Amino acid sequence: MKKLWGARFKSELHETAKKFTYSLGVDHELLSAEVKVSMAHALMLGRIGIISGRDSRALVRGFWKVLAALKKKSVCHMIDEYEDIHTLIQAELEKKVGKLARKLHTGRSRNDLVATSTRLYVKERIVDLLEALNQFQTVLVAQAEKNRNIIIPGYTHLQRAQVVLFAHHLLAYVEMLERDKSRLLDARKRMNECPLGAGALAGTSLSIDRKFVAKLLGFEKPTANSLDSVSDRDFAIEVLSDIAIVFTHLSRFAEDLILWNSQEFGFIILDDQFSTGSSLMPHKKNPDVLELVRGKSGQAYGNLVSLLVTMKGLPLAYNRDMQEDKRPLFASLRLLADSLSVLSGTVRTLRVDEAACERASKDSFLFATDVLEYLVKRKVPFLEAHAVVGNLVRRAIDSHVTLSGLPFEIYRESSRAFKKDVFDLFDPKVSVSGKASLGSTKPEMVAKQIRLWKERLKAEVRRLRLGGHFT
Ligand code: ARG
Repeated sequence: MKKLWGARFKSELHETAKKFTYSLGVDHELLSAEVKVSMAHALMLGRIGIISGRDSRALVRGFWKVLAALKKKSVCHMIDEYEDIHTLIQAELEKKVGKLARKLHTGRSRNDLVATSTRLYVKERIVDLLEALNQFQTVLVAQAEKNRNIIIPGYTHLQRAQVVLFAHHLLAYVEMLERDKSRLLDARKRMNECPLGAGALAGTSLSIDRKFVAKLLGFEKPTANSLDSVSDRDFAIEVLSDIAIVFTHLSRFAEDLILWNSQEFGFIILDDQFSTGSSLMPHKKNPDVLELVRGKSGQAYGNLVSLLVTMKGLPLAYNRDMQEDKRPLFASLRLLADSLSVLSGTVRTLRVDEAACERASKDSFLFATDVLEYLVKRKVPFLEAHAVVGNLVRRAIDSHVTLSGLPFEIYRESSRAFKKDVFDLFDPKVSVSGKASLGSTKPEMVAKQIRLWKERLKAEVRRLRLGGHFT
């Protein structure tokens, strides 16, 4: 038995058509999920009496054997032989339990089966991704804590703007990743309905118990509309778009580290384990891992667009086009897992060059905004103060000195509000400590954020382990 259909056909499928339509090479990934779904289905058939309790139990035992046997085999040599994972499992089951296997497919079709297995698979992968994201956040927070006193220039338009804590910069990514986690969690909640029992598209005349199957498989409830059940790939699109957003964050982070690791910035030193060399230039140590995270982000966007285009304009209900959901879906899930793992290693092992950060943070123009706010605190209207400091900056540049290098007389000429203590402002520590607004780079506030994140991330690990998020 190499096919789940065929009686109404006079001839075999042409070899080229076979190669073109067969999907085992991709959907073998669904093996465990699919076996679980089939076990639940078999139990349900026994429960409602379509098959006997004995047969139902024999099928479940058979499935354990199928799982063990197929996990050992490589699919490579079977991909031309079996149409898809559904067909392969059915065939293998027949080897284990004989003719009884033929009763299994009662009251279901591959359309609702594949929708169910894929959802189940994605639900499980999302939990893995949540764990990996949490782990990466934990590594970022640990580096933030380790380097909590380091100050660096912060940039806008890649121009030196104002000094910030290195830790504050890392925590910005922790925030982004938290939103990424909540998006994935949200998608998971929405996909938590079980399509099995929708049949090919219309449901079935057999009195199957869909609620029982849904519950056994850990879904919140069965889907409500059989046509929607077999036609919907929103859940995959949603996850792909959530992953694409994560990659926006990861690629920006990679870019920040690439810049910081360059000689021009020199704020960090990547560990040898996460750097590569040049085949020609012996002195080179390149951030290839980070460049590839940045580069592979393109694939995450491509995978999303690929599935959107596949689904666009399809008539209800199931169409074979939908088989093409798996390649981009699996690719993005794997890409994100791999990227998070390599980024966690890169960040865990990097070192901060304190002296380089200190040198860069001394640039006196970084404190121009503090000088401006100094005037504002002394009742000079903001725009007037802005013009005063702007003029001082211009004069400093014209006379080839730093902002703090201008004599006090010139400050005094520009505004009577200046006192000698204005020169105290040209100190990175004074600058960050002077911040007062909530969410700023003030060291006490950043330290509090580090404390909160540590607690929150630890609690999250516990929750994920206990499955606390999930029904
Ligand atoms: N392998 C298909 C998929 O992944 C499911 C099979 C449904 N095939 C069919 N001809 N109705 O979408």
